[in-house]
Amino acid sequence: MPEAQDSGPQACVIGWPVAHSRSPLIHGYWLEKYDLPGRYDKQAVPPEDFPEFLDRFAESGLIGANVTVPHKELAYELVDRREPAAEAVQAVNTIWLDDGQLVGDNTDVYGFLANLDEGAPGWDGGSRAAVIGAGGAARAVLKGLIDRGFSEIRLANRTFAKAQGLAEAFGPAVRAIAWAERDAMLDGCALLVNTTSLGMEGSPALEIDLAALPSDAVVTDIVYVPLQTPLLRAAKARGLRTVDGLGMLLHQAVPGFARWFGVRPEVTPELRARIVADIEQ
Ligand code: ATR
Repeated sequence: MPEAQDSGPQACVIGWPVAHSRSPLIHGYWLEKYDLPGRYDKQAVPPEDFPEFLDRFAESGLIGANVTVPHKELAYELVDRREPAAEAVQAVNTIWLDDGQLVGDNTDVYGFLANLDEGAPGWDGGSRAAVIGAGGAARAVLKGLIDRGFSEIRLANRTFAKAQGLAEAFGPAVRAIAWAERDAMLDGCALLVNTTSLGMEGSPALEIDLAALPSDAVVTDIVYVPLQTPLLRAAKARGLRTVDGLGMLLHQAVPGFARWFGVRPEVTPELRARIVADIEQ
């Protein structure tokens, strides 16, 4: 009932533009499934208004929010306190109020790991991994892999200097690899992650030869439109285990919902099916 929804905690996703965000579908599904009072809306906030929006956060009645493009880096600068994942990624995608202070986290790290835990149990048994790309998503992936004990992470990026920058920032576990060496770097790697937009609908595919990957390696993509990217299709054709990127989107929403609404929600097949239907619309 509308009255019930209007009472209870209020959260939202803040972006510019924000119409494309699937977060309201995800959180709305959970509010309904667990029969919780509360709301989750979209807030379109232009970049120039974002600092003031955060200043007034406490008095707005919101208890927390997701932050999406283009505000994640500014949110990192402006929050009062940051969780370790946000520090590592240097971007904030989830905020909440704690005793009047605005706290920022980056749940992409959790989402990346939880997606692999669900889709490829045992994936983190090895010590070597290969990562393609050196943007914000790569930072979340590197933090996750280091947390899980990977000690040799080979990082290839079209612009080598950016891979070098991340290798310096993340320490000796991360090694920058020349773009032309990306096929060879797969040798002995337990995992390959694409963190670029290559393979996304409307973008060219990632060109990479998977021959050097061990037969028990796992391949995952952060792209989830389409669900089966050319990279994942090539990995399947080689008989490798694959994990698509949609689960990362779904799992990254879990910690925020748990904090704001008090129930740790489940990423169910039904939720996944709803988002897939929305993507295919
Ligand atoms: P995000 O924050 O989502 O990771 P980003 O910071 O724009 O996005 O990073 C995009 C990544 O995709 C970068 O690693 C980029 O490579 P460059 O650093 O060389 O720009 C990579 N990328 C995008 N288009 C690419 C292409 N056509 N070929 C190779 N890499 C590409």
